[in-house]
Amino acid sequence: MNNFIFQNPVKVIFGRGTIGALAEHIPAGAKVLMTCGGGSIRANGVYGQVKEALSGFDLQEFWGIEPNPRYETAMKAVELCRREKITFLLSVGGGSVLDATKFISLAVHYTAADPWELYTKGALSPQTVPLGAVITLPATGSEMNCNSVLSRESTAEKLAFSNPQAYPLFSVMDPESTFTLPERQTINGIVDAFVHVCEQYMTYPVNSPLQDRQAEAVYHTLVEEGPKVLKNPRDYDARANIMWAATHALNFIMACGVPEDWSTHMIGHEITALHGLDHAQTLACVLFGVWKHQKQAKEAKLVQYGQRIWGITPGPGAVEKAIDRTEAFFRSLGMKTRLHEYGVGTENFEKIASRIESRGMKLGEHANIGKKEILEILNLSL
Ligand code: NZQ
Ligand code: ZN
Repeated sequence: MNNFIFQNPVKVIFGRGTIGALAEHIPAGAKVLMTCGGGSIRANGVYGQVKEALSGFDLQEFWGIEPNPRYETAMKAVELCRREKITFLLSVGGGSVLDATKFISLAVHYTAADPWELYTKGALSPQTVPLGAVITLPATGSEMNCNSVLSRESTAEKLAFSNPQAYPLFSVMDPESTFTLPERQTINGIVDAFVHVCEQYMTYPVNSPLQDRQAEAVYHTLVEEGPKVLKNPRDYDARANIMWAATHALNFIMACGVPEDWSTHMIGHEITALHGLDHAQTLACVLFGVWKHQKQAKEAKLVQYGQRIWGITPGPGAVEKAIDRTEAFFRSLGMKTRLHEYGVGTENFEKIASRIESRGMKLGEHANIGKKEILEILNLSL
């Protein structure tokens, strides 16, 4: 096992009726800005519950944070916070609202330069506005990590940061709030969480049996519970299991002391930036390109995964079977697994590969995926 440091300060408040107790977790006298998406929280009653719970607070609202949240929109909230001297941010919605709110939290006092530097330079903020979350979509793990992904419309870029200043103080997770998710978002969430596990597990062995089994626990849970929520969207237990699994998939406990990949995500973000596909839709295509391209380097873990998750006997053909079985699982959920199915062709492949190269990074757990390899992976994902 490799050396590691692990710290996660997020207070998780999980279960039925937890939104009603929100006021207990926000400092008395705070001037709160509630950040929201396009309206789903009105339709499912979460908005009403938050308003009631925070009736004793000075509460303002900022609406309109989009899926694949935009820097341009988030900056409007930053200006509002500066103008109104907001002292607490409450994100209410999916991962996009929370990611944008993490940015807002860091950007309000980042006045010396363009806060986009939080992404381009991995900059730290001189001071943050404290942040809490009510998460309504299990997928990103944003509720228990310090990552944020934002898109800048003017440059068609989608960039991520991982910044310890961006942990929410708390995250409220009521599985009932996910009953209203459209099927497409439920599928996206299962696939996104599944691929998060892959990025931390499907590398090479470093003798980390605990982390491997933590990852496999999340795989099993998604495989067993995913079809249940699709069949019965109001199955509380299945929704709760998916929600907690998605949090575990990216709170980085399973990443302690093990190598990580993230090439599927890096390539996928570029596809979203240039073609507008949902985040998970890109992952479900690129993952298999990465696995096929890297199957020798990933062989030991692919064989272990195939055996433990899908019951595939190790031996000749086991790697291919593990890949095929995973693709069949995604398709059984109703997720497409090839870029051409979304009308994406080779037109931007060169641009995607050059952009990643221009940021000076090589991808993968061996840092051996450069421009040429990205092009090969994209062609395998077509
Ligand atoms: O905008 P509203 O009206 O709220 O509707 C949203 C949105 O249209 C809707 N929704 C959310 N909760 C709902 C609901 N509809 C009905 N009932 C509910 N309970 O779902 C749509 C998608 O929401 P969004 O927040 O965009 O989805 P998700 O949580 O999957 O977030 C995706 C974003 O997170 C980034 C992705 O790149 C993408 O930008 N990621 C963030 C990560 C992180 N912070 O750690 C890691 C991930 O790998 C990922 O990159
Ligand atoms: Zn993801």
